[in-house]
Amino acid sequence: MYYPDHLIEEVRTKNDIVDVISGYVRIAKKGSSHFGLCPFHNEKSPSFSVSGNRQMYYCFGCGAGGNVFTFIMEYENFSFPEAVKLLAEKAGVTLPEVEYSEEVRKKENKRAKLLEINKEAAKYFYYQLRSERGRNAHEYLQKRSLTTETIQTFGLGYANKNSDDLVRYLKNKGYDEALIIEAGLASFHEKYGTSDKFWNRVMFPIQDLNHRVIGFGGRVMGESEETKSIPKYLNSPETLVFDKSRNLYGLNFARTSRKNHVILCEGYLDVIALHQAGFTQAVASLGTAFTAGQANLLRRYAEEVILAYDSDEAGRKAILRAITILKECGLTGRVLDLSPYKDPDDFVNNLGALEFEKRISEAQNSFFYELSVMENGFNLNDPEQKTRFHREIAKKLCTFSEDVERDNYLEAVCEKYHIGFENLRKLVLSYAAQTGLAVPITRPKSGTADKFAPESHAMKAERLLLTWLSEEPALYAQINKYLTAADFSAGLYQKAAAKLFADFEKNEVNPAAIISLFIDEEEQREVASIFNTRLGTLESKAEREKAINDIVRTVKKNSHDKITKSLGNDVNAISQALEGRRALDELLKTNIKLP
Ligand code: CTP
Ligand code: MN
Repeated sequence: MYYPDHLIEEVRTKNDIVDVISGYVRIAKKGSSHFGLCPFHNEKSPSFSVSGNRQMYYCFGCGAGGNVFTFIMEYENFSFPEAVKLLAEKAGVTLPEVEYSEEVRKKENKRAKLLEINKEAAKYFYYQLRSERGRNAHEYLQKRSLTTETIQTFGLGYANKNSDDLVRYLKNKGYDEALIIEAGLASFHEKYGTSDKFWNRVMFPIQDLNHRVIGFGGRVMGESEETKSIPKYLNSPETLVFDKSRNLYGLNFARTSRKNHVILCEGYLDVIALHQAGFTQAVASLGTAFTAGQANLLRRYAEEVILAYDSDEAGRKAILRAITILKECGLTGRVLDLSPYKDPDDFVNNLGALEFEKRISEAQNSFFYELSVMENGFNLNDPEQKTRFHREIAKKLCTFSEDVERDNYLEAVCEKYHIGFENLRKLVLSYAAQTGLAVPITRPKSGTADKFAPESHAMKAERLLLTWLSEEPALYAQINKYLTAADFSAGLYQKAAAKLFADFEKNEVNPAAIISLFIDEEEQREVASIFNTRLGTLESKAEREKAINDIVRTVKKNSHDKITKSLGNDVNAISQALEGRRALDELLKTNIKLP
């Protein structure tokens, strides 16, 4: 913990979640909760709920959820201590600096310093672009059709020809040379001393969701012979504040664009040109390949990703890789055709926004894109090759785990490639028989508590039980005879249950407080979802009663099965198992009553 628990609790209780969230999202009271449009994904009807009683929020659409701290962390992209600090200031709670452990304090200090340095550097580059020395750079950007307003919005700058003036500038401002190097803005040579990393380049500051500068990309101006031997772009290295796999260029603007899709490009200038043309939903990865971390980040804001990669061979390869990643993260992909232009920047500058809009609406479904790439490898005039192509299609259709989806694609494919439906279906079934159909995609651990994540039956029951208990604490007295925290799945579930049960013993239930006991952001999200798992609507009391009995029994039974399975010759374990058996038998005879 960065701060003592009681202080974190004080800050939390002094910041009513309804008040705080009202400052960011429009919510209206409906029943015992408030509802609004979820700020973490795009939606048209409100599924984002904020409960004043429980001091938690939860989105039934995307599964984002938590307490007032996690809200600030997600919304502002803050770390936990940053969120605590912001809310403490808001509520007038003084936080002791000394409570940080030495190590944590150092790290937090360093993060803050690196962000400061980046901000100063961005200001410096920005200023240089506007000075006499930056005239060429300014002309270059104008030649690339960027308006003054765009240049300003994206904070573009210029690193001039001197090899060490940024270092000198920053040192003058009091920053350590070592830290400037750590920020990736300079490097040290035995022979030449410390020199700027970027020189004679136009500079693209890279911002996080909260508009803080976390790194830079720098482009050489023009494509003359003289610049051919040096890399076109130079990017900041990863640092304590710059994680390339979890940030996207332009997302700080795109996240509020409120479209149901994002446009994913390859280049900084593509993003800028698209924003200038009104497509503020455009983002790009950061000079590296698109990652699952980035896909998960996007999933908070959009359901569909339109790929607008360069229309060359490298672009096509990158598209295929991106499609796979998107699919694995549960996002739909469509591929935009930019021909005859090379990239989105080129396209909008030549054909304009309306034409681009048209291309968006015509963007090809990613599955068909994959097929059309595959098709290129076959000569369809040759019956032998045509058959092979159809076999490949059948194999690919096996990758859909859902029958309905697979059948829909099957139908569409037959239509498009003039294949007999039954013939292809037989082929699919024969492949499926050999290799099995795809199992449902296991989504990687993600930024948001994941409503799609495959979870064991046991965990589902545990979540339901914990949510239920937190809402109807009176139940605890009836179940504590049979269940302890040890009956829950090891790790988060067990920890959360232990804390909840301890709270019950003290007669103070507070799931929102339990979330803050976990430091890791992912863990906090997961715990939030543990306390926000809902059964479908159960109308009658009898139905509800049957459900709670089933749930409690399932939890106990799973725990008991686990214990007996792992039973060795350990006497303790055996007696634990016997104890469990007794409790389970009794539980099966008991009927838990709802208050
Ligand atoms: N890139 C890089 N290093 C290079 C070339 C490219 O890091 N030597 C990254 C940059 O992030 C760049 C992206 O790959 O934005 C796409 O490259 P490219 O299409 O060549 O650049 P554009 O952004 O389209 O820039 P421009 O139009 O000025 O060529
Ligand atoms: Mn380009």
